Amino acid sequence: MKVLITGGAGFIGSHLVRRMVKNYPDYEIVNLDKLTYAGNLKNLVDVEGAENYRFIKGDIEDHSFVSSLFEQEAFDACIHLAAESHVDRSITNPDAFLRTNILGTFHLLDAAVKHCDISSFLFYHVSTDEVYGSLGDEGLFKETTSYDPQSPYSASKAASDHFVRAYGNTFKLRYKISNCSNNYGPNQFPEKLIPLCINNILEGRPLPVYGKGENIRDWLYVEDHAEAIDLIFHSGEMNETFNIGGKNEWTNIDLVRLLCDEVDVALSNEIGNSQQLITFVEDRKGHDMRYAIDPSKIEAHLNWEPKQTFETGLRQTVQWYLSNKQWISDVISGDYRAYYQEHYK
Ligand code: NAD
Ligand code: DAU
Repeated sequence: MKVLITGGAGFIGSHLVRRMVKNYPDYEIVNLDKLTYAGNLKNLVDVEGAENYRFIKGDIEDHSFVSSLFEQEAFDACIHLAAESHVDRSITNPDAFLRTNILGTFHLLDAAVKHCDISSFLFYHVSTDEVYGSLGDEGLFKETTSYDPQSPYSASKAASDHFVRAYGNTFKLRYKISNCSNNYGPNQFPEKLIPLCINNILEGRPLPVYGKGENIRDWLYVEDHAEAIDLIFHSGEMNETFNIGGKNEWTNIDLVRLLCDEVDVALSNEIGNSQQLITFVEDRKGHDMRYAIDPSKIEAHLNWEPKQTFETGLRQTVQWYLSNKQWISDVISGDYRAYYQEHYK
């Protein structure tokens, strides 16, 4: 089987590529990635020489490139992760989100129906729980929850989900979609809350908590997400949607405090009490209050449950960043510093 994985040099994509290359030696895994600021081939060093793996640098915004690639390669399946993924950037620069997340997804769908064997090809779309909008104190996102995206990022992901289902209905494209909660773990770009805070603690900088820190996110270790994608890809029912989450809700302020304690312990308090660095800053515009996944469908249909507890996952994450300071300094380029200065003033 020849499987195209898009966005395989990013955070979640690189964990999935490594898993698929190692677990399925008979598959041909092709990784297509533009290598934006968020894509990094250093995430893939342990598979780069594998016989069943190939990397192609390319942009899904380029319709004719995507079309030719599908014509030449005759893929059996595509697992689509390539996206602009950071909500704050979607507020300051939404057009990149429309181009990659909506138009890029359309280009892949269009190429698939024109150049692949539609009776057997599978399009697996990796999406987010943010398409469902924001919860109050009660309730959970189910697969049947109505879409209500609130940010330019989530609107672009919702549009791409709709396009996938529309291609399923109109052109009989076989598809699967999963909507996952917040991921954390090794290789996450330090613009997202957890790696940003770890990096700032190491640099002795303020830990910026938006608003009062009362917003709630539902955190899942990235390897557990990769395992869920693998399971759905192989065993999930066709043309179905699965929500993925680990029943692990935290307010941002409690999470940042826990993370400070975890880093302090790992560093044997060499740099003192990092909770002192917590700084409440201006809230994100239109900040969604709470996300929380009901994972009962994936539990019941595929017998999936996360392997990591938050305690073990967070500890491994902190250890990874402390042991990979070179990775952090490599990804914190001039561009990142400019983004950081502009966003956090
Ligand atoms: P990421 O930002 O770390 O990686 C995105 C990857 O896509 C990068 O390697 C980047 O180079 C590539 N890319 C971006 N634009 C491209 C283009 N035009 N053409 C080709 N490649 C391009 O993102 P992530 O956090 O790994 O998220 C991966 C997917 O999972 C996204 O679709 C995201 O919406 C979804 N998701 C993320 C989370 C999360 O918590 N991070 C949760 C649920 C769903
Ligand atoms: O829910 C899934 C989504 O989770 C994914 O689809 C997105 O790609 C991913 O980026 C993530 O979105 P969030 O906006 O929830 O993640 P982020 O790490 O940016 O922020 C987590 C929470 O922390 C959120 O409530 C905003 C807050 N925050 C974030 C940053 C960067 C802060 O308080 N301070 C910060 O500096």
